[in-house]
Amino acid sequence: MTVRINPSILSADFANFESELATIATSDLIHVDVMDNHFVPNLTFGQQMVARLQQVTPKPLDLHLMIENPDRWAPQFAETGAFSVTFHAEAAEDAVGLARKLRAIGARAGIAIKPNTDVEPYLEILSEFDQLLVMTVEPGFGGQSLIEHTLSKVTKARRRIDAEKLDVWLQVDGGIDAGNIERVAELGADTFVAGSAVFKAEDRALRIDLLRRSAEKGCQHRH
Ligand code: DX5
Ligand code: ZN
Repeated sequence: MTVRINPSILSADFANFESELATIATSDLIHVDVMDNHFVPNLTFGQQMVARLQQVTPKPLDLHLMIENPDRWAPQFAETGAFSVTFHAEAAEDAVGLARKLRAIGARAGIAIKPNTDVEPYLEILSEFDQLLVMTVEPGFGGQSLIEHTLSKVTKARRRIDAEKLDVWLQVDGGIDAGNIERVAELGADTFVAGSAVFKAEDRALRIDLLRRSAEKGCQHRH
């Protein structure tokens, strides 16, 4: 099984994205946390910034929209040419309709759930998506500790994805580090967002390599 390590640039130096992106060239996708100050109490990137970021990195962008009314705004983010657009289930009016729109524009469609949102209803519509993002911290900020009770949702989602042989990436985001990634991979995640774990490392390439090898080990031990 392929694992993906997606550094979150929320933990990068906001005055130097071009050089920061160059330090994570061995990663898979670049995780971009879009926040609107309403869905979460923090404000980050707009469409123009996302489009510009794509011009200074060859890596595909993995957009995580923590915004109200994704039905209205998410298609505009997909129009920037982003590889993947993930919106929050809690904020969407018509999650399936929106996913279809995103795919029609040419982006992969992802659905995200906060720590206290049940996964079950979304397991029923998983085939409409390319990615399920299980938040392992409350969205809004980097540098928080992983919330253990969220991991049972990773187990459940992995079971369903395998049982139905779905081509859906299972992403975890929040508090992922070298100390827990192997265990989270063993439960079934294959796509790992890491903000502070990558950007606080002295040698980021080395840290990405360690995260990748640990995740691969976890995947191999999956029962
Ligand atoms: C939190 C964001 C995360 C965040 C992760 O709302 O969705 O992507 O950057 O940061 P760490 O890995 O430091 O928890
Ligand atoms: Zn994120």
